[in-house]
Amino acid sequence: MIDPAPIYDAATAFWKSAVLFAACRLGVFDALEEAAGAAALAQRLGLSEHGTAALLDACVAMGLIEKAGDTYRNTPAGDRYLTSRSPESLLVTLELQAATYPMWMRLAEAVRDGQPAIAPADLLGGDPELTRQFVVGMHQRALGTAGALMDAVDLTGHRVLADIGGGPGTYSMLMLQRYPGLRARIMDLAPILEVARTLVASSGVGDRIEMVPCDVTADDLGNGFDAALVSGLLHRMTAETSRSILRKVYAGMAPGGLIAVNDLFIVAGGPTMALLFGLQMLLTNETGGAHEASDVASWLAQAGFVDVKITPLFPHTVVIARKAAAIRA
Ligand SMILES: C[S@@+](CC[C@H](N)C(=O)[O-])C[C@H]1O[C@@H](n2cnc3c(N)ncnc32)[C@H](O)[C@@H]1O
Repeated sequence: MIDPAPIYDAATAFWKSAVLFAACRLGVFDALEEAAGAAALAQRLGLSEHGTAALLDACVAMGLIEKAGDTYRNTPAGDRYLTSRSPESLLVTLELQAATYPMWMRLAEAVRDGQPAIAPADLLGGDPELTRQFVVGMHQRALGTAGALMDAVDLTGHRVLADIGGGPGTYSMLMLQRYPGLRARIMDLAPILEVARTLVASSGVGDRIEMVPCDVTADDLGNGFDAALVSGLLHRMTAETSRSILRKVYAGMAPGGLIAVNDLFIVAGGPTMALLFGLQMLLTNETGGAHEASDVASWLAQAGFVDVKITPLFPHTVVIARKAAAIRA
């Protein structure tokens, strides 16, 4: 018999998402910082007892909660990422995932028509609550995944980082915390920077950060920077717009500068997350998708950058290159 299991697994994968979102929304992980039985937890949260027991046991089976005898408690990962008090909480980014959940039911129409399922501007200032969730959610996600990128991008000796499409500015803040001599310019759309300001203000490095409202597809990117980060931006752009942005970065960058382009790029047909993300872009934007890392490397070389190197950092991939140093006469 040919095994149908992969088909069943894909067909019911959304059940698991629904379990996670429901447990977050009901405050289960906040409550389970302390061990509790299902009945006590149901009473405390105002939930049905049998529904609570079923949800908790599903979470246990999914590895989201631990069970000893009749009592439940968070796993260490649950305490760290799924409670509202944790500085590394992912609850806002999960709330955004949950908000985009119905949109995936319209994938067939989006594929057929080639049109997004939501208005692209909603996340970028059009809907204030979605915009807030988008920016804070990006911040939470970036805090969780930043380590690999920070280690791959060495900014020792660099002075000014242009964070192009910097969003919440998380990477800039972390870079500035690591490199005391570095300053940063976070360049993004005005409504995004409005939300980011609060995050920057509480980062401890806000005095070294300049916020530059701009549309990077249309505006000049200025000059005077010797490092540039283009993270999570090109997936909204066509190849042509991406090439134009990289040319503008090259033009404004000081000789000897470094550029890091980070995203869910495709390398050798994967990872799966990059390919699924390409569909998420189809659902949320008129242009863009998951680009091939090798194409990004070519665009950088065409813009004039040298020493182009692709480094997969699962699930993201960073493409790093340099602008050649000026030749002394
Ligand atoms: C997925 S987020 C990535 C944010 C951040 N760089 C990171 O990696 O966490 C993409 C960012 O690009 C910004 N962006 C999209 N189109 C833009 C444009 N035309 N001009 C400036 N920023 C833009 C969005 O507002 C958003 O903050």
